[in-house]
Amino acid sequence: MPIQRLKGTQDILPETAEYWQDAEAIIRKTCREFGYEEIRTPIFELTELFVRGVGETTDIVNKEMYTFTDKGGNSLTLRPEGTASVCRAYVEDKLYGQVQQPVKLYYMGAMFRHEKPQAGRFRQFHQFGVEVLGADKPVVDAEVIHLAWEIYRRLGLTGLEVHLNSVGCPHCRALHKQKLQEFLAPRLGALCKDCQERFERNPLRILDCKQPSCREATADAPAITEYLCEDCRSHAERLQELLAAAGIPYSINPRLVRGLDYYRKTAFEIMVEEIGAQSAICGGGRYDGLVEEIGGPPTPAIGFAMGLERVLAALRVQEKLSPRADRPFAVVVTLGERATGLGFQTVSRLRQAGIPVSMDLLGRSLKSQLKAADRNQIRVALILGDEELDRGVMVVRDLILGEQSEVSQDEIVRLMEEQYGKYQKDVR
Ligand code: HAM
Repeated sequence: MPIQRLKGTQDILPETAEYWQDAEAIIRKTCREFGYEEIRTPIFELTELFVRGVGETTDIVNKEMYTFTDKGGNSLTLRPEGTASVCRAYVEDKLYGQVQQPVKLYYMGAMFRHEKPQAGRFRQFHQFGVEVLGADKPVVDAEVIHLAWEIYRRLGLTGLEVHLNSVGCPHCRALHKQKLQEFLAPRLGALCKDCQERFERNPLRILDCKQPSCREATADAPAITEYLCEDCRSHAERLQELLAAAGIPYSINPRLVRGLDYYRKTAFEIMVEEIGAQSAICGGGRYDGLVEEIGGPPTPAIGFAMGLERVLAALRVQEKLSPRADRPFAVVVTLGERATGLGFQTVSRLRQAGIPVSMDLLGRSLKSQLKAADRNQIRVALILGDEELDRGVMVVRDLILGEQSEVSQDEIVRLMEEQYGKYQKDVR
């Protein structure tokens, strides 16, 4: 039996990787334009970072982490998300002392969660995320949401919904937690097993449970928004004004409770219904206490992450994926071993001149080499057999127009530079 890939992982094959590259290029360009710089952190960290960062009561830490002991006896974990690592780097590399403040970072890479795989949910998935550290004003929250929105606009996605909530701060959350527990206590029997466990430690999460019985039991539960302190309330209101001013449509969802413990004040998700049950393509919020929690100075911060598999799925269902234009312009078609030598030399000279060119690597017949060129939408074939070799020429065939002529081998690079230059002007 051949070895197979693990459940919940994917091979991103070339035809799809091309679309990933295009989406990633748009994301990177938009980040740079918004003044965000890339950070690359390790794929594994000490387990304690995620336990302290993501939170002991979360599903991620309790059930989903890929944790192992290394040969030195350390407990390590494959990163389930990027925020905790970015905060660790912010503290460890003293980014809080940097001249440019706030610190605006973005990252892209693989994350690992041992979840039940289903459409849109993987065990290895890829996130693009941003984190802004060192700024507490609502305008920062607005900028971060605007960045996500602008990326989706440039990618061509439509029909997105921003769901917005405030989950308060430890101050206002304490009172809400008490009211919520009072409300839930007589209804405990109606809740699912997970929510019964959440009752003591993290009752807010019960509001986010997707089980119909829990939804029903909590339909009239007190919402956190009714208990916000003055600071949290005015922050939320100002953010809404700013989003409205930027023309970003949002809806308030008082039940939106994110699956990570570090959020304070703003929490948001961006949904696209067409991709199925796992419709959140982006999730984020403010996490003003996290940097301090992991040993750094008090630092307000906010960020988000989007699941790139889901972004690509949305692009696919909305038919926004277009094939690449930058295929090889020319192909050197060689017939026989003798021609391969000069053919290979010609290919290398053309590549040095910056002309995208390919060559047959299988020793195929003229007919099948031309057929392959046609399939790959190549514009020009440079044909070289024994006869051309002896006469010091090559046949130049325009595969679109079907015209052909003979050109001296010494002239070929100059001619191709001319034709490729013209072609590039035309396609622009
Ligand atoms: P999260 O909501 O856990 O937040 O993940 C963010 C996004 O990653 C989700 O909205 C989804 O698109 C994608 N995602 C999560 N799990 C999976 C999975 N198993 N398979 C496929 N896609 C998935 C965070 O990770 C926070 N670190 C976001 C953040 C940054 N908050 C502040 N800064």
